[in-house]
Amino acid sequence: MKDFIAVMDSGVGGISVLIPMHRLMPDENFLFYGDSANAPYGTKSTDMVRSRVLELVADFLDEGAKAIAIACNTATSAAVKDLREIYPEVPIVGIEPALKPAVTEHEGGRILVMATPMTIREEKFKNLLSRYGGDCEVIPLPCPGLMEYVEGGKADTDEVEAFLRELLSPYLSGGLDAVVLGCTHYPFIRKRLQRVIGSDVEIYDGSLGTAKELRRRISDAGLLRPSGAGEGTICFRNSDKSEEKQKLSEELFYSHREHCH
Ligand code: DGL
Repeated sequence: MKDFIAVMDSGVGGISVLIPMHRLMPDENFLFYGDSANAPYGTKSTDMVRSRVLELVADFLDEGAKAIAIACNTATSAAVKDLREIYPEVPIVGIEPALKPAVTEHEGGRILVMATPMTIREEKFKNLLSRYGGDCEVIPLPCPGLMEYVEGGKADTDEVEAFLRELLSPYLSGGLDAVVLGCTHYPFIRKRLQRVIGSDVEIYDGSLGTAKELRRRISDAGLLRPSGAGEGTICFRNSDKSEEKQKLSEELFYSHREHCH
């Protein structure tokens, strides 16, 4: 592959970020890498995830990637600071929970942030909270076990809905104004989540903002492919080499293009 952007996640979740990236930059070539064989990241130690992400990014750059997108909130909180220090010349973007727009649009509201245990315990999230928490009641909710439904191809099932109902029941009675999806797997369960929280509760995710940031960084570096350079390509690669994982990746990408940002 030549002239490509490497987009990575702990698994197939980052495809929810790849979708708006591809929509904004259809001429670019994308390598999507899911590390499903080592997922979940969110319940592992920060050091373990950091060294795995550093290893993968070194491989992408060796292969010739011109930019890196960490389409995983967990991996971003563990490794993006180190990556930027090691490769100051490479455009590198990460993703973080979209707390800012949720807080801005729901002043004084009650906002639930769903993310992995690691994302919530890391410094990056604490900084985000103190910066944007404002006068809202922000409730961070670690959701171990949730990403597995997406990895298992069960994002749109009664099973995941029952899981969500139980997980969220303590927060529903007090009323919620917004839910922030702080993990890139969760946009794929959005439909079921909306049923559980009710249609009037707004859901936020950071995928579109991250895609815009990537385009800006690549453009500033003079690395955008000229438009009309030809339809870009998308390659799905995964550390889980099974045929099911490959199929699931393509299915998530092609069948969610209308629903995701
Ligand atoms: N998709 C990842 C994120 O955005 C997390 C899933 C995992 O635990 O590996 O945080």
